[in-house]
Amino acid sequence: MGKATKSDSPPTTLSSNSENIPRHVAVIMDGNGRWAERRGLPRLAGHEEGAESVRAIMRAAKDVGVEYLSLYAFSVENWTRPKLEIAGLMKLLNRFLKNYEKDLHKNRIRLRVIGRTEDLPDSTQHHLTEVEEKTREYSDRHLILALSYGSRTEIAHAARCIARQVKAGELDEAQVDESTIAANLYAPDIPDPDLLIRTSGELRLSNFLLWQLSYAELYFTDILWPDFREQHFVEAIQEYGNRQRRFGDIGQR
Ligand code: FPP
Repeated sequence: MGKATKSDSPPTTLSSNSENIPRHVAVIMDGNGRWAERRGLPRLAGHEEGAESVRAIMRAAKDVGVEYLSLYAFSVENWTRPKLEIAGLMKLLNRFLKNYEKDLHKNRIRLRVIGRTEDLPDSTQHHLTEVEEKTREYSDRHLILALSYGSRTEIAHAARCIARQVKAGELDEAQVDESTIAANLYAPDIPDPDLLIRTSGELRLSNFLLWQLSYAELYFTDILWPDFREQHFVEAIQEYGNRQRRFGDIGQR
């Protein structure tokens, strides 16, 4: 498992004939608080700069040809944070949607949201639903925001859906298999991530897409999320290109 460090090299670009681009990249955007604390700023300043990184990574993902970009923006566990920080994050999300909606249209990116969206403030829910509706026709590129998301919550939700179908006689319990569970997750049509990036030096999955990440390549970097920009994303994609995925097999013979 690679652990990259911040490099002083100039921005890297992928050559146009680069192969082995991950179709789906998932990101745990960590380190906003530490970024702010190191500068003597309030934590929200870190989240605001983190939103700039979101925009940069959306652009980079499009440029290198990543089809699906999933961002862990707010977890079910994050509700225990101070009320002021939560309110600031929700405001920032509303602002992000307002400011970047035009980018989504310009680049024909479909917005999807996964998580317990019913927990979000009404205004945020409405805004998200509106942008999801307005971008629903775009099919080449997808931005997936995980909001009030927890993987165990998602799997428990899938189990309840399946139990209901069995009880209603729509499904035979003997037929419940991996594909039944996958089909009852929040966004069953989205392919599993090929690459997971986590910033800030923490080496954990933190309840993010546990089912879907089963065979993903993992990439950890010490760079804090607000400092993570295009060239760092490209470095992660390049490292992915050097990995050999085996899916439990023994590799090339
Ligand atoms: C984790 O860093 C980050 C979050 C809980 C929030 C992520 C939010 C953003 C990147 C900005 C807004 C997002 C969008 C989509 C507009 P942390 O606060 O846990 O950092 P720390 O571990 O250094 O304290």
